[in-house]
Amino acid sequence: MRLLKRGRIRLLLKLTIALGSLSILSLLTRSNPVWNPSSVLRYSWLEHTDSDDSPEKVCNCSAILKGEREALEQAKLLTSNQDFLKSVHIPDEHYMNATEDCSAFKLRRKYFTSPLSQEEEDFPLAYSMVVHHKVQSFERLLRAIYAPQNIYCVHVDKKAKSSVLFAIWAITACFPNIFLVSQPVDVVYAAWPRVQADLNCMADLYNTSTKWKYFINLCGLDFPLKTNLEIVRTLRSLSGRNSLESEKMPAGKVWRVRNAHEIIDGGIQRTGKAKEPPPFNITIMSGNAYIVVSRGFIRSVLEDRRVLALMEWGKDTYSPDEFLWATIQRMLGVPGSTWPHSKYDMSDVIAIARLVRWQWHEGSRDSPDSVYPDCQGSRVRSICVNGAGDLKWMLKQPHLFANKFDIDTDPVAVYCLEKYLRKRALSELQ
Ligand SMILES: *[C@@H]1O[C@H](CO)[C@@H](O)[C@H](O)[C@H]1NC(C)=O
Ligand SMILES: *[C@@H]1O[C@H](CO)[C@@H](O)[C@H](O)[C@H]1NC(C)=O
Ligand SMILES: *[C@@H]1O[C@H](CO)[C@@H](O)[C@H](O)[C@H]1NC(C)=O
Ligand SMILES: *[C@@H]1O[C@H](CO)[C@@H](O)[C@H](O)[C@H]1NC(C)=O
Repeated sequence: MRLLKRGRIRLLLKLTIALGSLSILSLLTRSNPVWNPSSVLRYSWLEHTDSDDSPEKVCNCSAILKGEREALEQAKLLTSNQDFLKSVHIPDEHYMNATEDCSAFKLRRKYFTSPLSQEEEDFPLAYSMVVHHKVQSFERLLRAIYAPQNIYCVHVDKKAKSSVLFAIWAITACFPNIFLVSQPVDVVYAAWPRVQADLNCMADLYNTSTKWKYFINLCGLDFPLKTNLEIVRTLRSLSGRNSLESEKMPAGKVWRVRNAHEIIDGGIQRTGKAKEPPPFNITIMSGNAYIVVSRGFIRSVLEDRRVLALMEWGKDTYSPDEFLWATIQRMLGVPGSTWPHSKYDMSDVIAIARLVRWQWHEGSRDSPDSVYPDCQGSRVRSICVNGAGDLKWMLKQPHLFANKFDIDTDPVAVYCLEKYLRKRALSELQ
């Protein structure tokens, strides 16, 4: 990597953030061109094809998406071959180099450079992306969700390796509508800073543009299951409602909000003190970190005094990301929220925000305890890292995004998903 002083990079980062906001403003205030369907033909080159020269092209993605056994076995064989995995891996340093000429980078990586439809242009989305490593996975995710009318805030963990920060900075600097969060934090698993990372992006996104309609948060190992147009249509059909897990807190998790915690040596620990009940007698609900919410919900998060008090109270709880959004979602007056009654409880399987598969819920369809089919990839912290064999089932689910995908363990799954989504996005133009 080129030897740039860290101070100078910081200055550059700050400049990019400032310039990024400026160019977003100009982007959002320019007059919209008339949408012309005859431009469809111009886009055919954007399809991902086998001539794109990626090592994964030896796989037959159409057979994989159909769940054909032979193709899946071949994919499994490939992904257990270390040489193959190495041939796919791209080091962080590459991105500093590859983005030196931004237009060449976007061209080569086939980023969309104009909205694909009037409908999408009229319904911009705001994304918060919280990442700490695996730049290659991040770039593939970014490319899959990128649309010029959307706006993206990227939070790189304060303790991320400098090569990760530089690479992601270099990529984001190529786009006027992608910026690094103005205030990065040191994320601690299961502790408040995980929430703060999203909050800081929410504030930046809310402040930078008034146009976006829905907010979606992602981590670096997520991947979309739908095209931007499908996401837009699904969100429009929500008519302003939010979609996220929000259920009665299970008895086994209540300790998380009854005891005070603190961060010690980068980990979260109990202090031994009990916590006061939440402010305003708010009922704490259970959910997860990933949400699909309206702009109004974000306004409440940033401004509603009950929410601000709840957040202040929640700072020393365990895993606040797994109750905060779920609780706000049931508060009277919050845009897109639902009644607190248990009839409105929403599970993660019904909410469209994220498809996640926990090991203990896997099983065959005829087993009464199973929630979804067995993971065909590997597992990290009991969560399925999706393999090629998971795609067929996943693509029939209503969720907009799925977690986890990891190019370092199953690049074929991501490769075939990318091809599928791109083909679908381009065929939607007809
Ligand atoms: C890939 O799989 C599809 C679906 O089974 C099949 O029609 C096609 O011929 C296969 N392509 C190659 C190159 O094997
Ligand atoms: C960076 O780019 C130059 C010229 O394009 C190339 O020669 C060099 O090998 C690249 N370095 C890396 C680390 O990719
Ligand atoms: C938004 O920007 C204004 C002006 O720069 C600033 O005063 C305010 O604190 C910002 N709000 C948030 C939520 O960041
Ligand atoms: C607090 O909420 C509970 C149940 O949600 C209710 O029974 C109780 O009366 C409330 N207390 C106050 C002071 O509002």
